[in-house]
Amino acid sequence: MHVRVISLILRFCAIPALILGILFWIGLVVPTNALLSIHMLLGILVMLGLWMMSIAHFKSKPGLAISILLLSLIAIIFGITQENFFVLAPSLIWLIKLIHLLLVFGALTLCNMLTRSPHPTERKTTFLQQKKILPQDN
Ligand code: HEM
Repeated sequence: MHVRVISLILRFCAIPALILGILFWIGLVVPTNALLSIHMLLGILVMLGLWMMSIAHFKSKPGLAISILLLSLIAIIFGITQENFFVLAPSLIWLIKLIHLLLVFGALTLCNMLTRSPHPTERKTTFLQQKKILPQDN
């Protein structure tokens, strides 16, 4: 699938997942089973989108791609099981919630690093060389 399509799907799922999560967080919406399932489904789709993005960029940035694959896998497993931790360690709910957010936003930030185009100062060729006005230095 084209990288732009994956990126569009990612945004379409990540924004409602984030809004629902924030509404749960501030207590404006009660996390009923149905709403939690929607949040988790959207979240899992985002994480699968990150996998596709990592696979698409695997050759150019293998280290970053593997980190995203692992982090998003842990984010899915932790997200599915986090409610059990709420019961096991009620005094540590804030920490469990924080870990969920760190995993999710960590994976999203790494994906942003994977897909962003290089800053002009990081490019190996200058603008004039890209336009073939100046020769490339070898
Ligand atoms: C784009 C991805 C995601 C975003 C932006 C996101 C965001 C949030 C936010 C802001 C909260 C409220 C604070 C908190 O409890 O930590 C939350 C709660 C939660 N999320 Fe996610 N999440 C994402 C993915 C996932 C995934 C993949 C799963 C599981 C498969 C998941 C499961 C949960 C659960 C179970 C809660 C707890 C609701 C509660 O009982 O308070 N989330 N999420």
